[in-house]
Formats: sequence, C-alpha cells, structure tokens
Amino acid sequence: MFKAVAAGFFLTLLGSGTLWAAPDEGARLYELNCSACHGINGSGGVGVPLALPAFLHAVDDAFLSTTIREGRPGRIMPAHPSLSDEQVQAIITHLRGWVADIPPPPSPAYAPVEGDAARGKLLYGGYCASCHGENGEGGHGTGVTFSRPRELPIMPPALNNAGFLKAASDAMIKRTLMEGRVGTPMRSFLTLGLNEQNIDDIVTYVRSFEQTPIRWHFAEVEEPVMMLDSDYSLEETVENIKRAALGKNFRIIRVQNLEDGFFPEAEQNKKQVVVYFCNFNFINQALNLDPRIGLFMPCRITVVEEPDGVHMMAINPRYLSRVYNNAELDQACTQMFNIYAEIMEEASL
Ligand code: HEC
Ligand code: HEC
Repeated sequence: MFKAVAAGFFLTLLGSGTLWAAPDEGARLYELNCSACHGINGSGGVGVPLALPAFLHAVDDAFLSTTIREGRPGRIMPAHPSLSDEQVQAIITHLRGWVADIPPPPSPAYAPVEGDAARGKLLYGGYCASCHGENGEGGHGTGVTFSRPRELPIMPPALNNAGFLKAASDAMIKRTLMEGRVGTPMRSFLTLGLNEQNIDDIVTYVRSFEQTPIRWHFAEVEEPVMMLDSDYSLEETVENIKRAALGKNFRIIRVQNLEDGFFPEAEQNKKQVVVYFCNFNFINQALNLDPRIGLFMPCRITVVEEPDGVHMMAINPRYLSRVYNNAELDQACTQMFNIYAEIMEEASL
C-alpha cells in the first residue's frame, strides 16, 4: 500500500511537461513543476519565495538553471532531470518576468573572493549558525516549511548542500551577504557590523563545505515488511502486542479488523487484525522533521492467522526512509524500527 502512495508522490513531483517549449511555455511549465511549492506567483510556500526582487537580482541564470536541474539533494527541492534546456530556459524567463525592470546581476558582480576560512568559520558560528545550522545543514528537516519555526517565516536553505554549492558562485554568495535578501530574514551583514573582509572570510568558509561533502547514511535497503511468527493464538497475540506497546509508553488507539469498511461485516476475514497505537511525542518529532511521515502514522502492527500459524507484520520504517531521502528522518525511522522489533519480539515470548 505504501509503495503506491510513495510512487504517486514522486510522480507528482517528477511529472513534467512536453519535450519542447513554445515561447509562452514558461508559465505552464512553472505551474506544472514548481508552483505547488513556490506559489503560483512565486511568493513562496513549502519552497522559498522566488519572486523577490532581491533574490532575482542576486542570482544569475546559471545559478537558476543548475538549481532547477540538480535540485538540493536531501532537501525537498527536487532535481528536474527530464526538463530540456529550452524548458529550463523558459521557466527562467518566466521567473525573470515577475520583476522585469530588475536586471540580472552584472558579471563579475564582485571582485574575486579571497578570504581566510579559519576566521570565516568563527564568524559563521557567531552570525550564521543559528539559522543555517552549525555545519550549514539548513533549517531542520528537508526544507519543508510546515515545520519551520513561526518566527522564521522562510526556511533557511542548506548551505553545505552539494546542489547549492554547485549552483552558487562565490560572487553570488558574497552578494547575498553584502546586500541581504530584502523581504526575508536574510539581512545585509554590512548593516550588522561586518566589513567586506569579514564577508570574504565567511564566503571562503562556506565554499570549504564543498571539500567535505556530506555523506548521507541511509539504512541498508531491507525487506519492505517486518514479519515475526507468534506461538500464541490470534487473540492472545493481539493482547500481547497491546501489553508490549503500553509498556513502551504507547497509547492503544484501536484494534480493528483489517477488512473493516472494505467488506460487509459478515464477509470479513476475522483472522486479520490491526493494532493501532501511538506516542504523541514521537509523532510530533517525526512530523516536525517531515510532514510526509504523517501518511504512515499512527504506528500499526497487523496480526494474521494462516494455516501455518499466526504472524505479526509491520511496514518496515527503515524501508520508508529510503523514500524520504532525509538523514534526520532516517534516525527517526530506525528508532521506529527498533520499537516495532521490540514490541513484536516481546509479544512472541
Ligand atoms: C517539492 C517542493 C518543490 C518543488 C516542486 C520545487 N521546489 Fe524549488 N525549492 C524548494 C525548497 C524547499 C527550496 C529551499 C531549499 C533548501 O531548503 O535548502 C527550494 C529552492 C529553490 C531555489 C533556490 C532559492 C534560493 O533562495 O536560492 C530555486 C531557484 C528553486 N527552488 C526553483 C524551483 C523551480 C524553478 C522549480 C520548478 C522547476 C522548483 N523549484 C520546484 C521546494 C521545491
Ligand atoms: C535570521 C536567520 C538567518 C541568519 C542569521 C542568516 N541567514 Fe542566510 N538566509 C536565511 C533565509 C531565511 C534565507 C532564504 C532567503 C530567501 O528566501 O531568499 C537565507 C539565504 C541565504 C543564502 C542564499 C541561499 C540560497 O539557497 O540561495 C546564503 C548564501 C546565506 N543565507 C548565507 C548566510 C550566511 C553566510 C550567514 C551568516 C553571515 C547567514 N546567511 C545568516 C536566514 C538567515
């Protein structure tokens, strides 16, 4: 079941347009591929705003096209490998059209940056880490703004991200620090007490993230379903699961026949029962990392009786984390995997 959900989600993300781009294709392609996250008028949503003059003035077309092509791996901004060069250019023309009187940045925008990464690191810790993360990992989660703190209406992007570092030139990063992004929490650091040399040092430090690419540690891909046999009857196994879940501070939400609602009562197979349970702290933690996890909440273990005995089954959360492509969520999924395993093992004792 979850496979179908996940596939649907990705199809929505990947579904791109035709193979060619007519002159006014930009708007259509943008609507199809980008507007769900960045807003139909570029005012932002799940994704950062794109229509801000300060943003469009700070970035050149190469930055935009690389960002669209490569996305931000590990963040929610997807790659768009299936768009043709013409289609990417049509989208960029559409973005630029929002503020037609604002020229793209002159190039070279600023003198080449020569800074001291060690000094930059200290400054970064003091001036940037609170928003962009200690190691440039960005606001929490995948860049999904449902989880953003209220006081930060726009999620700070990840700066140690391979997609960002590939797209952004030193000059673009420097311009962003010199001028800020008016209309976002990203301020001009010239107005916050730094001088141009300080800014060069920080740019050099941010650039050094590139030499230490982030390695994502994802669970080895395993079976999509966890399964364990029980020596007890179906009813006893259900009771054992409830007791084990309660013992781990979960609340039992309900116990329900798997076919409830799908078939009339009389035709239901009574030998398939689902135990639903949850722990609100855990759910909130996971939802803050990535709202998509909500599709798989609350926790559930299915018990089935078959001729060869009684089996307990759960969707393997570690299998899901592969779909989410988010290292933080990977930890949550592993935690959930361990909880399922412990409950099922205890119920089989
Ligand atoms: C599923 C949501 C989603 C979709 C679809 C999406 N984006 Fe994004 N985009 C994001 C998020 C979130 C970020 C911020 C990255 C981060 O948090 O590290 C982002 C970042 C960007 C940036 C960098 C902004 C900056 O300040 O540097 C650009 C440019 C961009 N997206 C353009 C596009 C375009 C054009 C499309 C369509 C072809 C698109 N995005 C599709 C979510 C999305
Ligand atoms: C108050 C929070 C905050 C602080 C502090 C902050 N930033 Fe930002 N920064 C943001 C937000 C939010 C954005 C996204 C702006 C947008 O939507 O265009 C951003 C954008 C950026 C971008 C553009 C990223 C992209 O994907 O285009 C860079 C580069 C950047 N910040 C670097 C820094 C550095 C370096 C520092 C420290 C000198 C810093 N920021 C301090 C919140 C912050």
